[in-house]
Amino acid sequence: MARFLVQKSEPLNGEVKISGAKNAVLPLMAAALLSEGTCRIMEVPQLKDVEVMKDILISLGATIEEVEEDILDISFPDVIENEADYDLVSKMRASFLVMGPLLSRTGRAKVHMPGGCTIGARPIDLHLKGFRALGAEIIQKDNYVEAIAPEGGLVGESVYLDFPSVGATENIMMCAALAQGTTYIVNAAEEPEIVDLANFLNKMGARIKGAGTDTIKIEGVTSMKGAYHTVIPDRIEAGTFMLAGAITRGQILIHNIVPDHVKPITAKLRECGVIVEMGDEGMYVVADQKPLRATDIKTLPYPGFPTDIQSPFMAFLTTVEGSSTVIETVFENRFMHVAELNRMGANIKTSGNKAIIHGGRHLEGAQVIATDLRAGAALVLAGLVADGTTEISEIYHVERGYEKFINKFKALGASILRIDD
Ligand code: EPZ
Repeated sequence: MARFLVQKSEPLNGEVKISGAKNAVLPLMAAALLSEGTCRIMEVPQLKDVEVMKDILISLGATIEEVEEDILDISFPDVIENEADYDLVSKMRASFLVMGPLLSRTGRAKVHMPGGCTIGARPIDLHLKGFRALGAEIIQKDNYVEAIAPEGGLVGESVYLDFPSVGATENIMMCAALAQGTTYIVNAAEEPEIVDLANFLNKMGARIKGAGTDTIKIEGVTSMKGAYHTVIPDRIEAGTFMLAGAITRGQILIHNIVPDHVKPITAKLRECGVIVEMGDEGMYVVADQKPLRATDIKTLPYPGFPTDIQSPFMAFLTTVEGSSTVIETVFENRFMHVAELNRMGANIKTSGNKAIIHGGRHLEGAQVIATDLRAGAALVLAGLVADGTTEISEIYHVERGYEKFINKFKALGASILRIDD
């Protein structure tokens, strides 16, 4: 298995360009299933997860042309397979996002149950609640989920989400796009990736209003055409590099960032005394002007503090004097990185969904394990300031979701080696 060897680095200095968002491009690719024409998606990040989604769409009948390194043309024939390949779906949870568009376009969809993962059970009950509300019959058997539209086709309905689930909002929005009549998603997720998907669907001919608020209205249409779309920048990658500048007390300039999308991260870094300013060229993060101080964070659905930045932010908090608290409200098991950070000399105590960080201690390089994509990034950040070398295993998690991860860090002066056993 491959590993990262992270050396203690000087304060990071330089510029980094953020890639297209992983959590936007995956639903955008699934949405191409709805189109009778060719969809062109631009600023596609080169990620393992994108490769898996490409393979899934090809297994459903897609033709995918890599026009350029970051431009994909996706088209489907009139008749589409409607059973997603088990081996492929089991590789990535987000593949469940093909369920909604498949059901909407072909009247039937059969997808393997997405697995949970280290951060939580990650059920799909809200996705299925939406499909049922539109009239689909759901059959769950042998770890498969099958959805079948009624004879007369899916009919719009109002669906209340007990939790503003990102994936459920995306799946139901895509499913309702070709249903008859009007659908309302109430208590919908408001993430920027939802808005990006709605913009793409509307370019394809859908009639969606309210994306980015807690109520989304979808008026069904009879068919959708091809469209061009550029993926929004990855706000979680942006937050990760903001924290790389902060934890090393450096000065970095971040290009291709939407300030609105990282507002909670900016606010919290400023509370710690980090200078974060948006200039004409991009976002400046300056953390070498004065001693930094502790703060408290609580993760919430957007526009609250993003759960995906919880672990990288915690790594940063281990380096500031004082006690900080981190409360994780979105996933039930997202403190797996705490034990790894403590192995590096951090002093973090957890109780339920609350962690208390006694910061300002010296970190020592150690052998640690990446338990999920963002925990892996957190350990890299910690390794940048820990004495000696930090060896991080299970880094496939990290490489799934961060494009050119090491190159970007090296360009900022970090010393990271990738060792392939
Ligand atoms: C998306 O996952 C992201 N993934 C996650 O990013 C992100 O952490 C998450 O949204 C929250 O922002 C992609 O977009 C591909 P949810 P998703 O449905 O859609 C519960 C990363 O590191 N829930 O909003 O799966 C669920 O258990 C990944 O890039 C139900 O109860 O997240 C969880 O506690 C990690 N029933 C909460 O909602 C359901 O039917 C949030 O899940 C669905 C979800």
